[in-house]
Amino acid sequence: MQLIAGNWKMNGLLASIAELEALIASGPHPSAALLLCPPATLLASFAARARGTHVAIGAQDCHPEPCGAFTGDLSAPMLADAGATHVIVGHSERRIGHGETDALVRRKAEAALAAGLVPIVCIGETLEDREAGQTLAVLARQLQGSLPSSGAAIVAYEPVWAIGTGRTPNPDAIAAAHAAIADHLPGDTPILYGGSVSPANAPAILATPGVGGALVGGASLRAHDFLAIAGAAR
Ligand code: PGA
Repeated sequence: MQLIAGNWKMNGLLASIAELEALIASGPHPSAALLLCPPATLLASFAARARGTHVAIGAQDCHPEPCGAFTGDLSAPMLADAGATHVIVGHSERRIGHGETDALVRRKAEAALAAGLVPIVCIGETLEDREAGQTLAVLARQLQGSLPSSGAAIVAYEPVWAIGTGRTPNPDAIAAAHAAIADHLPGDTPILYGGSVSPANAPAILATPGVGGALVGGASLRAHDFLAIAGAAR
C-alpha cells in the first residue's frame, strides 16, 4: 500500500470540496491510501466531510509551540482538533520562503507527534546542490537535523528543482536518493517522492524501488488527476 498525499498549498476555496467529494466517491483503492492537505481554512470542513471515509486530511505546516502569542500561526493541537491526522513540515517553500531551519523543522515534527499527528518531514536538494555533487550530503544533513528524535515520521524526498517545474530526476536517481535516505531511518519509515508527480510519470515513479508513495502538488488540485496517480500505486 502506497501513500498518495496531495498538498494543495495556497489553493482552494469552500467550493473546492467538490474535489474531495470526487475522491470520496471513488471508493477505497486496493493499493493507495489517500491523504489530502488543503489550506488551513478548509481543514475543519474537509475533515468533517471525510470522517469515516478512506480519505485522510492533513495540514501543511504547524508552529512548534502548542499555544501562545504567535499571531497568524497554528499549533499542532489546533490542527488535530480541526480533524487533521497528518501535517507536512519543512516543505522547501517554508524552508526557503520563510527561512525555516532544520532545527525548527525538528521542533515542528516533535510538536506534531506530541499532538498525535503524523509529521511528513520534507527534505530535498537544490539544483545547485545537485550540480555540485552534494545531493546525498545535503539529504543526510537535513535528515540528521530535522527528523524528530523519537516517534514515527514519514519522510518526503522532494528535490527543490523538481517542484512545480515539470522536471523530475530519472528513476535511477530517485532510487539512489531513497536508498540513501532509508539508511538513516527505521526500516518501516515510508519515504514519499515529491516534485512534478503527474498521471503520466506516476507509474514509473511509484514503481521505483524504495518509493513508498507520492507527495503531489499541482496535480492534486483536480480529483481526476489525483485519482489517476493513485491508480498507479502498488
Ligand atoms: P508539485 O509540488 O507536484 O506541484 O511539483 C510538489 C510539492 O511541492 O509537494
